[in-house]
Amino acid sequence: MEHTIAFSLEDLKEHLNEQQYSSVFVLVDENTHTHCLTPFHLALNDSVEYEVLEVPAGESSKSIEIAYQLWQAMIDLHADRKSCLINLGGGMITDLGGFIASTFKRGISFIHVPTTVLSMVDASIGGKTGVNLEHLKNQVGTFAQPQFVVADPIWLSTLSPSEIRSGFAEIIKHGLISPTDYLDACLNTELTNEGVGKLIKGSIEIKMTIVQEDPFEQNVRKALNFGHTAGHAYEALSHQAKTPVLHGDAVAWGMRVALSLSQMKSGFPVAKAHEIDRFLQTHYGEFKPSFSPKQLWELMLSDKKNEGGEVKFVLLSAPGHPVVNQTVTFKEFEEALDQLLHNHEEA
Ligand SMILES: NC(=O)c1ccc[n+]([C@@H]2O[C@H](COP(=O)([O-])OP(=O)(O)OC[C@H]3O[C@@H](n4cnc5c(N)ncnc54)[C@H](O)[C@@H]3O)[C@@H](O)[C@H]2O)c1
Ligand SMILES: [Zn+2]
Repeated sequence: MEHTIAFSLEDLKEHLNEQQYSSVFVLVDENTHTHCLTPFHLALNDSVEYEVLEVPAGESSKSIEIAYQLWQAMIDLHADRKSCLINLGGGMITDLGGFIASTFKRGISFIHVPTTVLSMVDASIGGKTGVNLEHLKNQVGTFAQPQFVVADPIWLSTLSPSEIRSGFAEIIKHGLISPTDYLDACLNTELTNEGVGKLIKGSIEIKMTIVQEDPFEQNVRKALNFGHTAGHAYEALSHQAKTPVLHGDAVAWGMRVALSLSQMKSGFPVAKAHEIDRFLQTHYGEFKPSFSPKQLWELMLSDKKNEGGEVKFVLLSAPGHPVVNQTVTFKEFEEALDQLLHNHEEA
């Protein structure tokens, strides 16, 4: 990958001065307009002029209709092929902005300034952009790399504790799948802005390393789906039932299921599995199974990543050692769920 990652807005100022884009646009949603635009403006210290493009906050703005309006606005404001779009927001904004920039006039430069934990460590890294079609996630999109990413932890101060906790789940996931001592750092971290802020750089490095090895998700990149097979099913059912859980909370539960299966099927050390399970349970609470194993299973079967009537998981043979494409049967899945309840009784 060509682009640069920086950790302070100061570096963005330098980059903009060096690049001399013909015009600069900044994409925000209502919340990042309120909380982030002023500090962003102050950091740039009037060194560049830009036009602000604003969309409503929330996943429903990640749509082709909004993309159309943004393309139109950029044409009206005389954007050309040397223009640059800065995406100042969470994963919704970086996915949407990356998509419109990578398609506008066959692709203009774009920069991500992620403002949520999840978008810093996950959505802004790896070059996937896209929009949803109705309720189907990320159906239209591109692989396109930003020119520059600035993951500055200053934005954490206005995030809610639940957003911080949700993003922390992806950080723990990076710890579990990477062969470094980063996992221990995660397990010894307090769930505060400061604690999580300190883990961001390492988390980004882990995702970058994996993505560089396998940019188009042929093999090792699949490890990043750890916890997401069961997690996505839980997340989707919670939305259908109108009791939505945050993505990271669902992934935390999905990682507990995957760890339980890893212990059963892949030789993951039992004591370590219990330690991590307790940690996840402490921070994310006990899963109250308002959905039956069968409901979850049906959803996993229909996931686009699974085919031929089989459900595949990413498992771990040890911390830092993912094994991808592991077929799991319904019986094993039920056993893993039972095991989680049992872990809880023991604790
Ligand atoms: N491209 C990828 O590889 C990738 C990976 C993971 C997730 N994603 C996508 O990311 C999106 C989820 O990202 P998200 O959780 O960041 O959602 P989001 O962008 O919707 O942000 C969550 C909420 O926080 C608000 N917000 C953002 N920054 C803030 C700040 N500093 N202070 C206060 N409020 C702030 C937003 O306005 C929003 O209401 C999904 O669309 C998902 O598909 C993409
Ligand atoms: Zn995720």
